[in-house]
Amino acid sequence: MFFGEMHLMEPLLDLLLFLIPIYVANSSPVVLGGGAPLDFGLTLPDGKRLLGSGKTIRGFAGGVLAGTLAGCAAAAIYRSPFFPDAQSQFIGAFVLASGTLLGDAAGSFIKRRCGIDSGRPFFLDTIMFLIVALALVWPLASARLYEPLNLAFFAALTLVIHPLANFLANKAGLKKVPW
Ligand code: CTP
Ligand code: MG
Repeated sequence: MFFGEMHLMEPLLDLLLFLIPIYVANSSPVVLGGGAPLDFGLTLPDGKRLLGSGKTIRGFAGGVLAGTLAGCAAAAIYRSPFFPDAQSQFIGAFVLASGTLLGDAAGSFIKRRCGIDSGRPFFLDTIMFLIVALALVWPLASARLYEPLNLAFFAALTLVIHPLANFLANKAGLKKVPW
């Protein structure tokens, strides 16, 4: 019985620990960001910014760095079953953090093309970063990462955590809007 329960819990912990570099990369720019925009103020022929003032160079670099460090710290003390070896888990931390910020920027690109202003809520805000991170780490990761139940867990948890984290960041005075 006891060991049966243990086996049920282990995969859950594996799933949660996998998300560390992604969640740290996605949340840290709120604190680390600011300054020059990633798109250098470029406006496209549609009259909208390429990415907008919400995406800054410091936020991008800081998010990649913080997510990579967090993922590497986790990799130093724990072997993830979602990577074939320790080396790919360390490199994976960087790829997941980079994918998160690239997905976040891609989401802003699409938002601007849809005419939605920076800071306004959009359905892609909650999930785009996760999709791109998971897609980019594919060459490094073990196939079991992409089992439907695992993907469903990542998506469901992220859809709950993202609005909650934004609400708390707003209450804590870190973010201007609660989304
Ligand atoms: N941030 C940053 N650089 C990034 C991403 C985020 O500096 N690459 C900071 C900005 O201060 C931004 C805040 O984190 O306002 C919240 O991020 P997010 O909600 O992703 O940006 P928005 O301002 O909502 O802009 P967008 O509509 O383009 O998503
Ligand atoms: Mg936003």
